[in-house]
Amino acid sequence: MTTAFPVLLGADGTTATAADILDRCRELVRPALAGTIERLHPWVGEMAAYSFGWCDVGGTPAGGAGGKGVRQALAVLGAEAAGASGEAAVAGAVAVELVHTFSLLHDDIMDGDQTRRTRPTVWKAYGTGPAVLAGDALFALAVEALAAVDGAGTAAAVRRLGAAMGDLVRGQADDLLFESRPWTGPTAVGPEEYRTMAEHKTGALLGCAAALGAALAGAPETTVAALDRAGRYMGVAFQVVDDLLGIWGDPAVTGKPVHNDLRQRKKTFPVLAALTARGPGAPAAGRLAALLAEAPDVPDDATTHRAAALIEQAGGRSAALAEADRHIAAVETCLDGLPLAPGAVAELRTLLDFLVRREI
Ligand code: IPE
Ligand code: MG
Ligand code: MG
Repeated sequence: MTTAFPVLLGADGTTATAADILDRCRELVRPALAGTIERLHPWVGEMAAYSFGWCDVGGTPAGGAGGKGVRQALAVLGAEAAGASGEAAVAGAVAVELVHTFSLLHDDIMDGDQTRRTRPTVWKAYGTGPAVLAGDALFALAVEALAAVDGAGTAAAVRRLGAAMGDLVRGQADDLLFESRPWTGPTAVGPEEYRTMAEHKTGALLGCAAALGAALAGAPETTVAALDRAGRYMGVAFQVVDDLLGIWGDPAVTGKPVHNDLRQRKKTFPVLAALTARGPGAPAAGRLAALLAEAPDVPDDATTHRAAALIEQAGGRSAALAEADRHIAAVETCLDGLPLAPGAVAELRTLLDFLVRREI
């Protein structure tokens, strides 16, 4: 299966585009992922397959839009970079993909989102209870699958996955609590609090993905830790771009409706940056603060559209892009000087480029 993702030239000038890399990794991981979810109760397995885009409600096979596959690709490339075996690469990728899917199933319930990847979310299609259950099953399966890997680094890898899950929950908790924090004033959410939240909710799993293959292969702790840190920076960049797409993305491409974050009063980076704008952006920042303060608990479409325009005028969009770029530069610094396979690192760099320039 090939994807319609934007084609970007490889960072090393080769023709391995981001789409090629994502496709290669997806194809490498898919048989093991399919074999793993076969162990689930059939109904729960169907919900898992539905969320991968492999079937419709009722189980009819579908070749529809699954995810981008960023985390599984990162797991494969991190493993290849550290010289891990193909088995370790795939096992780490399967575990990460299962955990990622679990987190989306539950996140869509928490966020009340009805559409993902252009289709009804699992809770909309199957019900909230079943979606919670399927999420739980995927989490348990991820741990079971990783723990079954026969190798010296398995226990360390399972510990790493558990710690990443703890951070993911921490980040989700802050993301939810931030919804009821004020937009301005002494108790407003600051950029540093945002970064910590984003590193936890998104960066922890990307860090785990990047490091898991190396951990399984028993690579030196400095290498494993640097890969984890690189993935965490990547995760913050990824989340900031996700925030941007939530305001200015094309729903036909992203597969999610726009302005949901604004409706839910999510403290996303572009809004926080806009509200604290100085200089030429300050007047728009003031108007944005007034608009958000006066908005009803669930802002209507006219308010969210006006807010999006003011966020842009105040410089929130460009500040968010700059924030993503800063984190990508930090990833590069982490990777520099590590004893890693150059081909895999070149592919990682292509993937990085895609993460910040994506429209999906
Ligand atoms: C999802 O964060 C993070 C986790 C599932 C832990 P968001 O809520 O910001 O992501 P989307 O926009 O729904 O994908
Ligand atoms: Mg969400
Ligand atoms: Mg969320």
